Amino acid sequence: MPPTRMAGNGRETVLATVIDGKQVAASVIDTVKAATAALDKQSGVQAGLAVIIVGDDPASHAYVGSKSKMAKECGFKSVQHTLPLETTQEDLAALVASLNADDTIHGILVQLPLPKHLNSEPIIQSILPEKDVDGLHVVNAGKLAVGDLETGLVSCTPAGAMVFVRRTHGEDLSGLNAVVVGRSNLFGKPMAQLLLNANATVTIAHSRTKDLPSVCRNADILVAAVGRPEMVKADWVKRGATVIDVGINRIAAPEKGEGKTRLVGDVAFAEAAEVADVITPVPGGVGPMTIAMLMANTVIAAHRAAGQTPPKF
Ligand code: GUN
Repeated sequence: MPPTRMAGNGRETVLATVIDGKQVAASVIDTVKAATAALDKQSGVQAGLAVIIVGDDPASHAYVGSKSKMAKECGFKSVQHTLPLETTQEDLAALVASLNADDTIHGILVQLPLPKHLNSEPIIQSILPEKDVDGLHVVNAGKLAVGDLETGLVSCTPAGAMVFVRRTHGEDLSGLNAVVVGRSNLFGKPMAQLLLNANATVTIAHSRTKDLPSVCRNADILVAAVGRPEMVKADWVKRGATVIDVGINRIAAPEKGEGKTRLVGDVAFAEAAEVADVITPVPGGVGPMTIAMLMANTVIAAHRAAGQTPPKF
């Protein structure tokens, strides 16, 4: 039974089940570890992930450090290339080319954003699609668009959000309305394609959508990825809906002391939890899944390279 509490009007309110992203991510990592060990045993192939970071942005360094550490924990060959800010487009392209040619590397990730003098698009598109564990290559975007999930790689955050959807609703979303708010190549578009592929009736809404609240109220599955703190209010949420919050916004938190901040999502969590059936928190929802799905994509790529059937997540 989900927890209940008294609303201000004295009526008992049933609160939504809150998805524990850390726990789900840990279960994905367990599967990755088992699959990595099995692949090594069967084929003598150790999954390999190379992560490239250029420049010295502290947030990106922290993020990349967690990816490399998790790769080691999974039993991968984990290689981190830390390049100086003055790296040229040609230097970076040459590194990607050498990793493309390296049979011990099955996944290549170039941490974004790159410093301003570098053009990320040709770099991303130069990664071999079968090593593009970020799912950003046009070949992988195209495979997702035609519903080929068997040979393509899916962008990590939508893949992670979809694990929550599957664990809540099962594999088949027939008859369910899904609304994705946000239309980015990194998240909104692939998320919509994944939901459509699972037979949901999908609407992609965005900043130019007319009457966004009423579009959202139609959603059995509401996915918010707009980058606006707590924009989705309780009266945007259909009673009983599943709400997946992909936003991570840092806002001032004067209640914690002067100059303090806290993280919030794109959904007004406390009020939305009184209407939804299932909801993801921020932090601790979709966030932990992104790194887990990067590991999943790497072990999938390594299985394919070895001619073995990859695990499902
Ligand atoms: N920067 C922030 N998130 C991501 C991600 O998922 N992939 C890459 N390559 N860079 C990022």
